[in-house]
Amino acid sequence: MKRIFSGVQPTGNLHLGNYLGAIRNWVQLQKDYESIFCVVDMHAITVWQDPAELTRTTREVTAAYIAAGIDPEACIIFHQSAVPGHAQLAWVFNCVARMGWLNRMTQFKEKAGKHKENASVGLFAYPDLMAADILLYKATHVPVGEDQKQHLELTRDIAQKFNNDFGREVFPITEPLILGTATRVMSLRDGSKKMSKSETSDFSRINLRDDADLIAQKIRKAKTDPEPLPSEIAGLENRPEAANLVGIFAALSDSTREAVLAEHGGQPFSAFKQSLTDLSVEVLGPMNAEMNRLLANPDEIDAILKRGAERAQAIAGPILDEVYETVGFLRP
Ligand code: TRP
Repeated sequence: MKRIFSGVQPTGNLHLGNYLGAIRNWVQLQKDYESIFCVVDMHAITVWQDPAELTRTTREVTAAYIAAGIDPEACIIFHQSAVPGHAQLAWVFNCVARMGWLNRMTQFKEKAGKHKENASVGLFAYPDLMAADILLYKATHVPVGEDQKQHLELTRDIAQKFNNDFGREVFPITEPLILGTATRVMSLRDGSKKMSKSETSDFSRINLRDDADLIAQKIRKAKTDPEPLPSEIAGLENRPEAANLVGIFAALSDSTREAVLAEHGGQPFSAFKQSLTDLSVEVLGPMNAEMNRLLANPDEIDAILKRGAERAQAIAGPILDEVYETVGFLRP
């Protein structure tokens, strides 16, 4: 049996990068894998989150999953804090992982920056919680982007060490699923930086909740260069902003960059941006409408999360029991 687990943190606004780089690809995977998609609220609080805002964004990520086409019947959609096994298994993993392993995590270094002494302990232990997310369900595969590969490596190391230490094959060695269809979406203001929810300028990203007018404005203002679009891929070299817009166009139209350039090559950016706006509104508009409908009905979202948590718990419960028994915890 093949089972995938993946998650998005409910922090800030979801944007086109989250959609094209992750969520959209999960819609395809749900057909071939038993799929568990989590809203990782416990990871979110490794840095400060306003409580009311955290509640709101937890619902927003859930709404985005559903609006993007993830079927809450076929898949399990739930939020992390609703299943206590995540925290329980993370504690066991805190005692399996070595300080040296976590010291090597580049994401901690980036997020903690110069203020390492002032970072939360949770931020340091973040990868142990992520390993717990995955292994609490014995997930065989995890769709990951480039930035999460090191965390998945650590998950594999933890599984291996646990199995070795206790002399039992409790955990699978989870494989990364590198998706050819995932698109790395860059900032609209700087083609060398990833589109990000933490970027100060809102014009650097297209949020999934932006309406048609705002999308049009942001694309119109997107940074470009003075040359027209090339007709071939080679012509995108050293033109990160042009390459980004072409990549977004290809992803939104389920096409390739080659095909996009064959059709639009030679056009000035004004024309291309108009086509990109139309396409974006066509694809994102219905999603935006469905998200808004769901968010106006929080009870519907909460019921989906509750049912998802029950189904997740049904898988996690026996696995946590097996872990506790393996460790030698006396059963009450
Ligand atoms: N760390 C991931 C991110 O920031 C989110 C995440 C938490 C995750 N747990 C996970 C992703 C388990 C995949 C599997 O993007």
